[in-house]
Amino acid sequence: MCGIVGYIGNQEAAPILLDGLTKLEYRGYDSAGLAVFDGENINIVKAKGRLQVLRELTGDGKALKGCIGIGHTRWATHGAPSVTNSHPHHNAKETIAVVHNGIIENYMKLKEKLIKKGYTFISETDTEVVAHLLDYYYNGNPVETIAKVMHRVEGSYALGIIFKDHPDKLYAVRKDSPLIVGVGEHENFIASDVPAILKYTRNVYFIENEEIVELSKKDVHFYNSDVEEIEKEMSEVKWDISAAEKSGYEHFMLKEIYEQPKALRDTISPRVKNGEIVIDELTMTEEDIKNIKKIFIVACGSAYHAGVNGKYVIEGAARIPVEVDLASEFRYRNPILEEGTLVIIISQSGETADSIAALREAKSRGIKVLGIVNVVGSTIARESDNVMYTWAGPEIAVATTKAYSTQLSALYLLAMYFGKVKGTLAKEEYSDMLKELMLLPDKVQTILGDKENIQFFANRYVGAKDVFFIGRGQDYAVSLEGSLKLKEISYIHSEAYAAGELKHGTISLIEEGTLVTAVLTNEELYKKTISNIVEVRTRGAFVLAVTNEDNILDKETADYVIYIPKTHKYFTSSLAVVPLQLFGYYVSVGRGCDVDKPRNLAKSVTVE
Ligand code: G6P
Repeated sequence: MCGIVGYIGNQEAAPILLDGLTKLEYRGYDSAGLAVFDGENINIVKAKGRLQVLRELTGDGKALKGCIGIGHTRWATHGAPSVTNSHPHHNAKETIAVVHNGIIENYMKLKEKLIKKGYTFISETDTEVVAHLLDYYYNGNPVETIAKVMHRVEGSYALGIIFKDHPDKLYAVRKDSPLIVGVGEHENFIASDVPAILKYTRNVYFIENEEIVELSKKDVHFYNSDVEEIEKEMSEVKWDISAAEKSGYEHFMLKEIYEQPKALRDTISPRVKNGEIVIDELTMTEEDIKNIKKIFIVACGSAYHAGVNGKYVIEGAARIPVEVDLASEFRYRNPILEEGTLVIIISQSGETADSIAALREAKSRGIKVLGIVNVVGSTIARESDNVMYTWAGPEIAVATTKAYSTQLSALYLLAMYFGKVKGTLAKEEYSDMLKELMLLPDKVQTILGDKENIQFFANRYVGAKDVFFIGRGQDYAVSLEGSLKLKEISYIHSEAYAAGELKHGTISLIEEGTLVTAVLTNEELYKKTISNIVEVRTRGAFVLAVTNEDNILDKETADYVIYIPKTHKYFTSSLAVVPLQLFGYYVSVGRGCDVDKPRNLAKSVTVE
């Protein structure tokens, strides 16, 4: 959500900023802009719509001269997407320009105050307040000025700032919105995320809350909110730039679907040693684990769906009661968090605002938090008591695929590990599960080999108006994810229902030809779900079934069947989700939608 890039060095800034913003497109945006300092003036160009419009306006950046600049992709919150509301914003004299990711919660109060002091506002944004506040407090010293502004604004922000008076400096500050600093040779960068700068450097600093950064082309200095200089440790990004490029695939989403076998292997293998699950990063002792009385899994979007699935596995394998909550609900519902509670926060980005708030709520009440996170060094990773990284690599498509799959596998590992420690998993079952866990990547690969079958079916349904997904138990949990994948990228209305719940309302929506996708991978529940299939078919539904290869369904039972390899009953969602992802993907492609950047959505939801 909103992307920030900043550059200072010997090269022309604008093309580098545009290139960086392109790498951040996945975050979601509806307008974009650049501010480049040419040695005399700060020149600003902004455009509504895709980055291509900004490229055309600036001749691929060549029309904006200068070696210091800031760029921004805006996902509208305060004020509609428009040229005026897009960033950078500036003070009246155009001597200060600022880009912002986040929300200034007290902006109305600050705006009123500034208007009384004679300031005029031209946009409807909260960000413009920051530009004028910087002007109001400006005392010739940018770090002191930024610190003053920081003490007055409430909310979340990552800011990139240039001052005309300081032509050889670039400034940044953050609180609760992501920001990194990239260190190159005679050039330095700021960015919302690593892919924006990876072409130029692997050396990065992760900025902590309320830290101010001053960059020149040679140095980077860090200050705390009391304007005292602080030392920070540089990190090296280990993954390769190709991981953030399409490598011949038509879309990032398809590439990431295909990367799932590797992502699963990378997440599972390092945690299996000599036939045992070893989760080195957990600082919990066996005693601590035995003392867990209750687990809350808290997350948003697909990560929440992974949590719904994890509940079945943890309760089954470790016999610990699990409650799964949407982070946006958990944070405000005053949950009962007693001693012996563990909160697991799942997040691909590690920057989702509601998930961060839920984490802080739990911690403030003395509860231990375990983060299952994909982005190394992200806020949730840093603030959790324990972090288990999912090694999916960078995920660019807004609709998650490989990160979701690795979240499932992390939950399996955890459930088995807890089950072993607590003695709730019989030895035989533990080894059976372990064997199947290790085979999951190959089985996912097998399903990918059958993609034409799904593509063929998807092409028939590009015109669908409503699609229902049904299943029981974990098949219901994976249906939630299948339904989300379809609706978010193809804009077809879709719902997932626990199959047994159909009769309580949803069945009235079934008409002649309505597509119902039924997932039935749990042997113990086959017959029950088949009854539900019969019910909807009787009312005219066309049924696509996803089931295990040994559960042969005849034409009388389902209209079209996708068979997946057999695995342990707890792991079937990891296989069932693959055809559902491919189905969503191909329907979206067939409808000509922007698969990787669906309308109105952002990859990383950094505002509430
Ligand atoms: C957005 C993304 C989803 C993601 C959700 C939670 O809605 O589009 O793919 O599941 O945020 O994000 P997180 O980074 O916390 O997993």
